[in-house]
Amino acid sequence: MPTATSIPVTSLHATPSPLPPPGAPTSPLELLLKYDKPVPRYTSYPTAAKFHSGVGAVDLAGQLARPSEEPLSLYVHVPFCRHACWYCGCNRITTQLGSKVVAPYLESLAQELALIAGLLPQRRRLAQLHWGGGTPNYLNAEEQSQLWNLVSRHFDLEPDLEASIEVNPEFIDREQAFHLRGLGFNRISFGIQDADPDVQQAVNRVVPVEQLRRVMGWLREAKFESVNVDLICGLPRQTPERFRTTLELVRELRPERISLFSFAYLPEQLPLQRKIAAADLPSQRQRLVMLDEASQLLAAAGYDAIGMDHYALASDSLAIAAREGRLHRNFQGYTTGGDYDLLGVGPSAISQFPNLFSQNQRQLKGYNAALVAGQLPVERGLAVLDPEVLERRALIREVMCHFRVELELARFATEWADLQALAADGLVSLSQNGDLGLVEVTHDGRWLIRTIAAVFDPAQRQQASGSRLI
Ligand SMILES: C[S@@+](CC[C@H](N)C(=O)[O-])C[C@H]1O[C@@H](n2cnc3c(N)ncnc32)[C@H](O)[C@@H]1O
Ligand code: SF4
Repeated sequence: MPTATSIPVTSLHATPSPLPPPGAPTSPLELLLKYDKPVPRYTSYPTAAKFHSGVGAVDLAGQLARPSEEPLSLYVHVPFCRHACWYCGCNRITTQLGSKVVAPYLESLAQELALIAGLLPQRRRLAQLHWGGGTPNYLNAEEQSQLWNLVSRHFDLEPDLEASIEVNPEFIDREQAFHLRGLGFNRISFGIQDADPDVQQAVNRVVPVEQLRRVMGWLREAKFESVNVDLICGLPRQTPERFRTTLELVRELRPERISLFSFAYLPEQLPLQRKIAAADLPSQRQRLVMLDEASQLLAAAGYDAIGMDHYALASDSLAIAAREGRLHRNFQGYTTGGDYDLLGVGPSAISQFPNLFSQNQRQLKGYNAALVAGQLPVERGLAVLDPEVLERRALIREVMCHFRVELELARFATEWADLQALAADGLVSLSQNGDLGLVEVTHDGRWLIRTIAAVFDPAQRQQASGSRLI
């Protein structure tokens, strides 16, 4: 395995590719600059930007009332955090009140789950359970047990249930790690973001490297089957040198999965991010160098690149699913097989069915008020019935999950024409087989995977929206 000093500073020009036409961008950076406009992350299609208040509790109730023998996936949102990390774009509430806010919140969740269970024509099985946030380990051990029992009161947990939880490593200890494992969680994820003390200070999230090492030790001791760590590229005061140290730590900790997010800097929408000075942010070139180095270092350490921003050890189920073409994408990112209906509970949680999205009230106050009135706390959503939209969803998913897609040329002539321009820039290679066109994403195209997927999204043709590419 290469050591920190053996990692190339940059290999942005190292990938052999066919000679570009005159005037075409020649490096990944130039390509990124050329295509640098907002694009959705396509955790869903249509995206959440299309949700509207015409969809409400009645629609979700109608969906829940349909009989089904299929198992479900359940997402439980825990919105509380002890302090605010300045980069954070998650739906969360910073409070020191602990059990004073958690106890009434568990009551609300109990009401919401009882309402849902009352609408289901039969008791349903759970194949996947995920607690996200916010910070699910804001709850103490007793509260965690209560929430687990609440879920199992209403659903049958499958014997091979995938149960995952997000935790903040600052507040976890050995006892809590064993408690969570004992409850039944087999997957766990914690945020590192960046291990450099200076970067950590610049985002108001200081977790010493020693604590990160201890946390990983406890999770291994407690025998979690899969550990994920979150990293963010593009944070203030981050440099390729500093980020390399973070990557070295990750290689040492050797989690099964790594999520490497690009920092979404949206100070207009997220007031807390205004504490971060734009002048402290790394340049696009530095960001690209960091992402490129990460991809090389992780490949050398035995990780497969999954989709656009995830990595998994080749032996991990996510990497196996990717190799076998069974990858899916939902609001939590990439998942293995099983395209289950997703039920989301808690404020801002999204439920996803083949023909319906519904999102809960985003503010805790509105969420509680709906439940007090005995109603499902739905704020907005989207019905998706048009076969063409469903077909576009399938095409976008193929691009995002499998880096290749086949399409009927006669029906997608506009898209095929747009793809020619991307092919000229070396982002995709195109071939034809009778009436079918095959699109394959190239190595350089990987960084622009969302731009390639956006070819199939007519809304992007009219007006670009989403977040920056990297
Ligand atoms: C709910 S948090 C993870 C759990 C836990 N609260 C923690 O802090 O470790 C979800 C993840 O979203 C990512 N994230 C949050 N805000 C982001 C932003 N503005 N840009 C990119 N990634 C972001 C971070 O990597 C974070 O770990
Ligand atoms: S990163 Fe995690 S702990 Fe920090 S504010 Fe966001 S949700 Fe809370």
